[in-house]
Amino acid sequence: MTDRYAVIGNPIAHSKSPLIHAAFARATGQDLTYGRILGDLADFGGAVRRFLDSGGQGLNVTVPFKEQAWELADELSPRATIAGAVNTLTRLPDGRLRGDNTDGIGLVRDLGGNHGFVFPGRRLLLVGAGGAAKGLLEPLLETGIAELVIANRTTGRALALATLGEKLRAEQGWEWGKVRGGGLEELEGDGFDLIINATSAGLDGALPELPEGCLAPGGWTYDLLYGDRVTAFCRWGQDQGAARVLDGLGMLVEQAAEAFWLWRAVRPDTAPVIAGLRDGTLGLPAAP
Ligand code: ATR
Repeated sequence: MTDRYAVIGNPIAHSKSPLIHAAFARATGQDLTYGRILGDLADFGGAVRRFLDSGGQGLNVTVPFKEQAWELADELSPRATIAGAVNTLTRLPDGRLRGDNTDGIGLVRDLGGNHGFVFPGRRLLLVGAGGAAKGLLEPLLETGIAELVIANRTTGRALALATLGEKLRAEQGWEWGKVRGGGLEELEGDGFDLIINATSAGLDGALPELPEGCLAPGGWTYDLLYGDRVTAFCRWGQDQGAARVLDGLGMLVEQAAEAFWLWRAVRPDTAPVIAGLRDGTLGLPAAP
């Protein structure tokens, strides 16, 4: 029988996940369908239950339901527990629901695997301290970076996230990856090897106000956002002379690949899917 999966969010029409998972299924010969569900803002749990009751095997969860999915799950992976958010729900054989979060590992795989960024020993700046930034904390620290600075428009949120990061380091016994938090204005002249934009600022074309000189010579920039046009933060990276300027399309495909792996125990090849999304050919019939 064909297994059923879907992505749930609100809005959802723009989601590329159905295209991505259909491409993975084709390439790996997996018998599945993957749809999209517009979740009711007042009844996320009901929509999930209805999907599962009609035979659904797993769901990807996107804005604004990731925290609710975390609450709803019967059990959580360690990385989802720390992230406080779930983007992948899996129906277990006994009918219970397991929540995981594949966003952070998606970022690390895109940067490290697809682009060859070497994490150990590097100084990283994470801009933003909301849900998206929190999900990156553990996967980034695990890579062996030298230092993680979290900077946010609202300083208190950055400090709180940094405290969480330090607690995690202590629990794990990691000697690397010292974490500190602060305001954006404190970063003047502080050269980072990689600056990650995890704010939602770019959605309206705005930009977190970063001072000059916070990117080290040869440093990279990464925007979690992506779009048909170059994002505002990517333009900033170009203006700063970043050696590599990356947007979040690769992360989107990598987090999907990790979810596919959780559901199907098969790892799809992500490169052709990223390329297909980039040039707009994914989902179009092959040329005759
Ligand atoms: P998400 O789940 O996408 O992280 P969120 O929890 O609402 O959403 O967090 C949004 C993040 O983007 C926050 O770090 C927010 O900064 P504040 O904590 O100061 O609100 C940041 N952000 C949004 N718009 C911004 C802007 N114009 N300039 C700087 N930071 C911005």
